[in-house]
This record gives sequence, structure tokens and C-alpha cells, in this order.
Amino acid sequence: MDERRRSSDSSRNPRRTRSSQNTAHSRRTRSSESLRIRRESGPSKSSRNSRYSGLTERNTTQTTEIRGRREILTPEDLFDDEEYMKRRQERMRKRRLEKLRQQRRRRIMRYAAMAAVLVLVICLAAFGISRLLPDRGGQDSGKVSEEVKADSGTQVTTALSQPVMSAADIGKFSEETTLSGWQSDSSGIWYKNSDGTFYENGWQEIDGNQYYFDENGYVKTGWQVIDGKDCYFDESGKYDSEKVKPMIALTFDDGPGQYTEELLNCLEENNAKATFFMLGQNAEQYPDTVKRMKEMGMELANHTYDHQILTNLSSGQVTEEIEKTSSIIEKAAGAAPTAMRPPGGAYNETVQSVSGFPIIMWSVDTKDWKTKSEDQTYQCVMDNAQDGSVVLMHDIHEWSVKAAIRMIPDLTAQGFKLVTVEELARAKGIALENGKAYYYFGEGTQQVE
Ligand code: NI
Repeated sequence: MDERRRSSDSSRNPRRTRSSQNTAHSRRTRSSESLRIRRESGPSKSSRNSRYSGLTERNTTQTTEIRGRREILTPEDLFDDEEYMKRRQERMRKRRLEKLRQQRRRRIMRYAAMAAVLVLVICLAAFGISRLLPDRGGQDSGKVSEEVKADSGTQVTTALSQPVMSAADIGKFSEETTLSGWQSDSSGIWYKNSDGTFYENGWQEIDGNQYYFDENGYVKTGWQVIDGKDCYFDESGKYDSEKVKPMIALTFDDGPGQYTEELLNCLEENNAKATFFMLGQNAEQYPDTVKRMKEMGMELANHTYDHQILTNLSSGQVTEEIEKTSSIIEKAAGAAPTAMRPPGGAYNETVQSVSGFPIIMWSVDTKDWKTKSEDQTYQCVMDNAQDGSVVLMHDIHEWSVKAAIRMIPDLTAQGFKLVTVEELARAKGIALENGKAYYYFGEGTQQVE
């Protein structure tokens, strides 16, 4: 009991135990006192032993009595003390051993943890490197990596199969997408391959349909210009090769004039193109505007030098009207015109034979010169524009240019592609011939007067 208390005392405070070894006196006093307490409090283990051996405690006890103080010392007590020391040393030895074992266990655990982390890091690194290596062609990647042939036969960009690398990519994959296939998030629709990669930057055929993946791996939807070609993708990103953007050609006669630059600004802002049938006498006055037209990709066209009705002229006069104007335009823009339109739309066989250009007429006549109305000009075009239309206006009139500045963004918003006559003919597969008259490039007929 006492020993237990001692041992628990010393285990609670081992430092105290160690220091008490040095002060033998204090220890002795304490142990004597405790012995005395033991005697007084009741029979001890040793006294019980004595009783069993037939001897009474009192027979073998030497008692020393000092007044006011009583100390009992027996051989047994001395023996107890020595034994106590031995046991104590034994306990301390065991404790030291236990401590060493504990330190060893901790060290082993520390090394094990470090090894586990190291193995994890190596695994992750190896996994990352394997992702960076080119696709060796799994069972389905061979199928989906097939090149997609575009209808136009022009340059084809095939989507690359990308490993997850950037922070954005990790975010993309963290969104509880465990299965491969089509995925969607707030940024759009994308495709996750069974090997954990995704497509980006190009065409990709999936389940018999064609898709175009952007630089972030999302499919493109709606109208998109890809390799210079307008392509339509439905809401799910599926390419619709049948769908062709409706195209119209806005044409402006009798300029350039004081409003032409303003019109060019609007065309530029809307990424739109137009064709300018210019008079030689006006091109002479606005050479910079003519030059700018060319630089912007507008089509330069010939409308005679001074607006003569060609059917009233001789073949030689017609030639002179046209050639003089062509040289003025070429001088200003550094490029010759590519089409002509006879003033008043008046042409005959003579004009056709000597013009040297395709004769471009129109399918929508806004009659802007007559109505002098911005609203009517605007409305006429908005009401009649259809795929293949050639619209006639005049950029020398302020109301016409104002109407054009309104209709250009509106037509674009409605899905029309505003192109030059040359581009419109090419898009429709029509090879323009010199001396031949063209009115309309769409299906069926159109003639709005
Ligand atoms: Ni004219």
C-alpha cells in the first residue's frame, strides 16, 4: 500500500525521486516517519508474516522511547529499506528501458510516416508525368481521335486531348464528375474522356457528330467563324453543316462623298463589308477614302466617270468612261475595280461587250434618292433582306448613310452576314463573267422596286 503510494508519487514526479537519492538524510527521516505511521495505523505485511510464523511482533521489537517522540526501528525495517532501494532501482531500470522502447517506437512511427509521404509524392509525380505523355491509344481514344474532315476541304484543326493541368482544369474536374462523357458547368459544355483528359482547340467527332472545342475545352455554340468559314452549332454544340448564314451585299453608288467615311466607320465596327460603285470624278476628290475602302476589304467598283447613261454613248465613249474611272480608282487605292454598274442600270449589248467587268445590278432598290427618307430606306432593307440580296443605296446622301448606319448592326444581329458582291457570288458558287449582268444570288428570284 505504502509502496504503491511511493511508486505513484515517484512516477508522478520522477525528478523529485532522483533528487531525493542525493539527500539520504531526508529520505531516511521520511521513511522512518512513514514506518511509524504504518505501525500505528495497523498491521503491516511483515507483521502479518511474523504472526503466521508463530512469533509476535513485540518479541523481536527493540523499542527506543524518547519523551515526546517515539521511534521504532526493527531489523525488518532496515531490511525493508534495503529491499526498497533494490526495488526502487529495479523500477527505475524498467522505467528507463520502457522509455527507450517508447522513444524507439516513436522514431519508427516518424520514419514510417515520412516514408508514406514520400511514396505518395512519388506516386503523384509519376501519375502527372504519365498524363503529360502522348496518348498511346486506348480502346476508345483511337476512335475519337480520328480526324474530322470539313466540308470545305480547307485546313482542319483537330481538337487536342488535354491532360488536367491548370488550376481551372482542376476546378473543372472537381465538380463531382466521376463518369466520362458530356459534362456541363457554368462556363459551358465539355467532354471528359475515359482516361481523364478533355478536348480543346479544334474539331472533334463524337458519336457521329462534329463539335468544335475552344481553347478552354468548351464546345462552341451558335454562329462561329472557323478558319474563315461561318459554321453553325446548335445549343449542345453539334455542328450543322446544312445551316448557312444568310448573306447580303449592300452596295453604294455615286460616291465617294462627304458621308462615306462615317459609313466606313460603321462597317468597320460591325465587321461588315460592302461594295462601292464609284464615279471617277468623285474618286478623284476623295482618294484617301478610296484607299481606306481597299484597306478595309471593301469591293471597289466602277460607275463611270460622270454618270453618263451608257446606252446613249458609242462603244468608244463607253470604254473611255469606264477606263478613265478605273485608272483613277487604281491610282488612289493601288488596286483596280472588280465590277461595274451602268448609271441608271442602263446597259445594252455594246455596254456588255466593252465593259470589261461583270455588270452588277440589284435585287432590292431602296429608292433612297427618291424618298430622301432615312426611315423608309432603313425599312425597305429590313423588310426585304434575304440570303443572296443585292441592295442598292447611295452614299452621297446623308439620309441614306444614316439609314445604313442603323441597318448594318441590326442586320448583323439578325444573323445576316454583310459581304461584298464578289464574296456573295463566290459563296454561292457563281463565277462572275465579264459583260454578264447579275441581279440576285439567292434561291428563286427577287426584284424589289
Ligand atoms: Ni448612279
